Amino acid sequence: ENDVLAKLPLKNKKILITAGPTYEAIDPVRFIGNHSSGKMGFEIAKAAAQLGAEVILISGPTNQTVSHSLITVIPVTSAEDMYHAVHNHFSNCDVAILSAAVADYKPKEVAPQKIKKNSSTLSLELEKTKDILASIGAIKTHQFLVGFALETNNELENAKDKLKRKNLNLIVLNSLNDAGAGFKSDTNKVTFIDANNVVTEFQLKSKADVAKDLLNKITEQINA
Ligand code: CTP
Ligand code: CA
Repeated sequence: ENDVLAKLPLKNKKILITAGPTYEAIDPVRFIGNHSSGKMGFEIAKAAAQLGAEVILISGPTNQTVSHSLITVIPVTSAEDMYHAVHNHFSNCDVAILSAAVADYKPKEVAPQKIKKNSSTLSLELEKTKDILASIGAIKTHQFLVGFALETNNELENAKDKLKRKNLNLIVLNSLNDAGAGFKSDTNKVTFIDANNVVTEFQLKSKADVAKDLLNKITEQINA
């Protein structure tokens, strides 16, 4: 086998990745957001490009940057924006990895003007956002679909349930119980669960190394 090709096992594969938080507008100057840094998703994009894949990286607001000829970044703001960007690109991809921390709820109405502090309490009515991952799980044909699960309790059970419910091929369980893992950190501790219920637990490591483990697992599975 040719050495150069062996190092680029994902050459000619198209991979869609979501990253970062979403911002849900309250009024023209305020939003509901979360602490996702986007690091994990950007590391996954870099690891995929290093293996030769063509990457579409759909990212919510983040300070992360990347410059690679195989990576196209599509910046979005809200869950609704991300939903449309993902659906624009999904049919054309071979693998989709949804690592974004998408808001589960958004203000039902966005105030057209800045809300003034003229009452002692303020209630915002929230409604669910669209579940992007579940929506592509429901329409996938040949795509290998990877989701993330952030859990604090009944972790394995909840992650397995998400894998089934959203029609995934693989889920990455991210435990917030582990010191050094999570949103803002440079390290992460993950467990992979595949569609055959094979559970692989990893040690705490850099997000760059977690990304490499993930791409190795995906490469193995799509070539199986
Ligand atoms: N996800 C998504 N669209 C949403 C919410 C979540 O695509 N509106 C994706 C995330 O990117 C992640 C997976 O779904 O890959 C699981 O996200 P998580 O927050 O762990 O689970 P939820 O399904 O949102 O359920 P809950 O927050 O109640 O645990
Ligand atoms: Ca959620």
